[in-house]
Amino acid sequence: MRRYGSVIAAAFVLLLASCGCGKTDRRPDATAERIRIGFLVKQPDEPWFQNEWKFAQQCADSFGFDLVKIGATDGEKVLAAIDNLAAQGAQGFVICAPDVRLGPSIMARASGYTMKVISVDDRFIGADGRTMTGVHHLGISAHDIGTSVGRALVAEMTRRNWKITETALCAATWEELQTARERTDGAIEALEAAGFPQSQVFKAPQRVADIPGSFDAVNALLTQHQAVRRWLVCGNNDNAVLGAVRAMEGRGYDASTVIGIGINGTDCITEFQKDKPTGFYASVLLAPRRHGFETSALMYRWIKNGTEPPLETYTTGLLITRDTFREVLKEQGLL
Ligand code: GLA
Repeated sequence: MRRYGSVIAAAFVLLLASCGCGKTDRRPDATAERIRIGFLVKQPDEPWFQNEWKFAQQCADSFGFDLVKIGATDGEKVLAAIDNLAAQGAQGFVICAPDVRLGPSIMARASGYTMKVISVDDRFIGADGRTMTGVHHLGISAHDIGTSVGRALVAEMTRRNWKITETALCAATWEELQTARERTDGAIEALEAAGFPQSQVFKAPQRVADIPGSFDAVNALLTQHQAVRRWLVCGNNDNAVLGAVRAMEGRGYDASTVIGIGINGTDCITEFQKDKPTGFYASVLLAPRRHGFETSALMYRWIKNGTEPPLETYTTGLLITRDTFREVLKEQGLL
């Protein structure tokens, strides 16, 4: 009797296994098992973000998940993209939002679909105006990187024997964004710590965070300070400094009267490749591979194994110039 009992039990188990009954996962085929992750960026035309996508794709290819790359340039596009990702069965996304104040609506929309979120580059701001520290984030050590820009400006100015009295700093700023504000603040603090007078520090607040936005802001500044003979330039990123350098060229300044140092090290490559040096002297090369690959890998493991990523990860940078960029990019696996 007992023997018959166990045969019946085994047959029942086999039956369950063959019809799939009793399994929690009832997805129709193996492809549905594949993990799908979104990667949304605010400025898809910019080399920085194209690099993030490139490395995110490398991650998807090596881990075997689907990556959906979306250029989300305004709030409406972000929310539509989240709906779209959910419809495609994505379980999470990495995002650099076009406006960090969208943070609460992004999180609400994502949690409605039980999707996981990691912000990259720009950190969300809550309705109370504070950083949303509960959202997992990977960004740059903005203040330290800004400080290194300031120090490098002082070093190059000293090497050229420029007189402080004839030199001013132009900071192309984008202060509504914390990471951007910390970068220019860090640069200004480093200059002032090295004895650069506050009265020769001028901010050019950008209305739009791109090359034309910086060009316009710096052009307005130059109209007000026509007596300055030599300029140091810092900004949120390479594009801020490129816009400033272009505006200065329009007023007759050149590589001998401008020292501009950007941040990203990705959007300045064509500038370094020009035959003649320009006022864009150097950049701090960030870690686009980490921002693209690592964020995607963290998201993948979070979805696949439930491994929660660290709440905050901050990356560093390396100074590159026209003379060193090829070697450094090669060393970093970026060329
Ligand atoms: C911001 C800037 C980008 C880049 C990233 C790096 O998003 O707009 O150009 O510098 O930060 O985290």
